[in-house]
Amino acid sequence: MFKDLEGKVVVITGAGGGIGKSFAENFGQAKAKVVLSYRSAKHKENLEALKAEIIKAGGDAIAVQGDVSNESDIIDLIQTAVNHFGTLDIMINNAGFERPVPSHEMTTEEWKNVIDINLTGAFIGSREAVKQFLKEDKKGVILNTSSVHDTIPWPNYVNYAASKGGMKLMMETMSMEYAQYGIRINNISPGAIVTEHTREKFSNPETRAETIDMIPSRKIGEVQEVSNVALFLASDLASYVHGTTIYVDGGMTNYPAFLGGKG
Ligand code: BGC
Repeated sequence: MFKDLEGKVVVITGAGGGIGKSFAENFGQAKAKVVLSYRSAKHKENLEALKAEIIKAGGDAIAVQGDVSNESDIIDLIQTAVNHFGTLDIMINNAGFERPVPSHEMTTEEWKNVIDINLTGAFIGSREAVKQFLKEDKKGVILNTSSVHDTIPWPNYVNYAASKGGMKLMMETMSMEYAQYGIRINNISPGAIVTEHTREKFSNPETRAETIDMIPSRKIGEVQEVSNVALFLASDLASYVHGTTIYVDGGMTNYPAFLGGKG
């Protein structure tokens, strides 16, 4: 289905788990050459297994450890991808972090940490990818993993909501600058998705019920449902899609509190 992704060089940050890992598996199945960026050494073994899985599927992969809140790590990551595979086709800024803290108790350190990873990391990843695309005169693709919280305020997660809200206008602005070169920049905004990061919270019956109550489709999403959209947006099927956000959220962003015609 996504034939044109075969042989494409795709860098994925936050590939050690969750949505990023699913992206990696799916691009591997599409026979892409995947550069797996991960931060925590605890992911090292998983990364080896993931690499093997991608190669078995007919793709290729390397794993690169680094921290997206560290500018030189991102610059090195793109350089490693280009040195190893000869080019860059697709950059996926997926690494992200969230932890609830009421705003009045949030330290400046906690604020900055989330902004650095989620927003500044994605900006530097986008900037470096654009530089490489322009250098190669390539119609490259950039995807950012955002969130429904790029538009829905999220109490106790002010740093996260601010980072994703910022990511929306960052993407739209950069798309406006570089669409003329055929560079496509878009966001994917997942809602409540089961990953190893959220499995615990969604297995709590109360939180699960509360969450489902906010989803018109009455279902918590699967990582595969997010990956399907990433494959589409990265492929030529999306050749005229620039500067937009696809919400993969079971309808969560459509004011579910009004379900049933309330108010
Ligand atoms: C967060 C999830 C949350 C979902 C819906 C996502 O951005 O990562 O933890 O369940 O938004 O609130």
